Amino acid sequence: MSQHLQHDVLVIGSGAAGLTLALTLPDNLRIAVLSKGELANGSTYWAQGGVAAVLDHSDTIDSHVDDTLNAGAGLCREDAVRFTVEHSREAIQWLIEQGVPFTRDDGDHEDGGFDFHLTREGGHSHRRIIHAADATGAAIFNTLLERTRQRSNVELLEQRAAVDLITERKLGREGRRCLGAYVLNRMTGEVDTHHARFVILATGGAAKVYLYTSNPDGACGDGIAMAWRAGCRVGNLEFNQFHPTCLYHPQAKSFLITEALRGEGALLRLPNGERFMPRFDPREELAPRDIVARAIDHEMKRLGIDCVYLDISHKPAEFVKNHFPTVYQRCLEFGIDITQQPIPVVPAAHYTCGGVVVDQAGRSDVEGLYAIGETSFTGLHGANRMASNSLLECFVYARSAAADIVANLHRVTMPTDLPSWDASQVTDSDEDVIIAHNWDELRRFMWDYVGIVRTTKRLQRAQHRVRLLLDEIDEFYSNYKVSRDLIELRNLAQVAELMILSAMERKESRGLHYTLDYPDLLPEALDTILQPANADD
Ligand code: FUM
Repeated sequence: MSQHLQHDVLVIGSGAAGLTLALTLPDNLRIAVLSKGELANGSTYWAQGGVAAVLDHSDTIDSHVDDTLNAGAGLCREDAVRFTVEHSREAIQWLIEQGVPFTRDDGDHEDGGFDFHLTREGGHSHRRIIHAADATGAAIFNTLLERTRQRSNVELLEQRAAVDLITERKLGREGRRCLGAYVLNRMTGEVDTHHARFVILATGGAAKVYLYTSNPDGACGDGIAMAWRAGCRVGNLEFNQFHPTCLYHPQAKSFLITEALRGEGALLRLPNGERFMPRFDPREELAPRDIVARAIDHEMKRLGIDCVYLDISHKPAEFVKNHFPTVYQRCLEFGIDITQQPIPVVPAAHYTCGGVVVDQAGRSDVEGLYAIGETSFTGLHGANRMASNSLLECFVYARSAAADIVANLHRVTMPTDLPSWDASQVTDSDEDVIIAHNWDELRRFMWDYVGIVRTTKRLQRAQHRVRLLLDEIDEFYSNYKVSRDLIELRNLAQVAELMILSAMERKESRGLHYTLDYPDLLPEALDTILQPANADD
């Protein structure tokens, strides 16, 4: 039997953004945090680098703002950037209070002035990345999860895959508020009805739309697709960030080699040992990611090689092992001793810079519906996210969304009389092979046609294919019971279409969007905002 559940706040997603929001809300609220698999399966857990923040006395808010604006290639919203950076110190302070074991300063860098070690990454003109060795995401996630488990008002619900949001509009009622969500309980196979006064989308990005990605399997753009179907605008979805350095090894699925290696002096080399970044940018290995990824892609295509190499073997072995224990260990498992040898690397899809359009409190276009973290489009990242600004965005916007919810609690009552999910017209699928096949096809053509270098023709091909897939998926969805795979495929195909449409709208090359048909920058930097047909005018 399916269930009806009631929570003041329903948080869909259990990563840095979702847990921060749950922990920041008062403990008299009933909160549910949903994870579609196990709690630790999201992207936060796998983040290596760290959190960018103005912490050192030699650093300034203006400098962090300027670096972010530069990396964003003219498209960041300056108010969003300033808001985020101005709240960076208090966000880090909060994490330290929660007990996150950030790496302490051992006096091996020059800047000093702060108790914790700060590293550098591409685009940053200062050391300002606070980190826990090279496993920052795991350290943050484990700490926040432990804190959340201590809160009796927060229910952590695993194996719950949200299918769709429930809104007044969808129910044919007056108003345009979000009232909750239909959620597949993967343990019972039933779709439950979750009533909520406020709903938060914190489901991460959609890098899984590409064949090769640094992201875990769940990065399917669920929140973006659900928000779109609920009538929210989405912004700048053509800007998909490819991380320049993922381990290239047949058995290494999606293993990132953190940019902090380059921050600490690692060099990119061709198979013959020659460096190539000085030919592409004066900042060399510390240029922003779009530039480094494109340079690698260019060299791989020019020379017909499968990978390039990242070399930190000139640094003392103890330094490398202390700063990068995760990378050292993982590479060693594949027979690569990074203290002695260069690491074979390739770019892979890493971060979705666009998302659900929100304001500074994380509010979307639908009342009571918030989006935070990678799911959202705040204007912070512009055409290219600067490294380690994303975790910062999670904390800053989760905290401002929590404050907004508290300020509006008195106005919102618990929605009642929501209809149960109707499964009377569907049967069990006997053809799951279609889902697997469509997954594969989608990710392959997105990689080939909507990747690092685009053309109008490639985008048109991708658009044609995604339309066919969407029709097939819709038919499948109408006839068969939902499963996690089907929910994810439906969302991924929806987001892929939005990415393609956004890329087709941009008639220039800017930041992460590079097309051979429009190689130049237009004088005016404009966001690509898409509006669903069911949105309010
Ligand atoms: O390279 C990294 O460690 C990734 C950092 C980021 O995506 O911000």
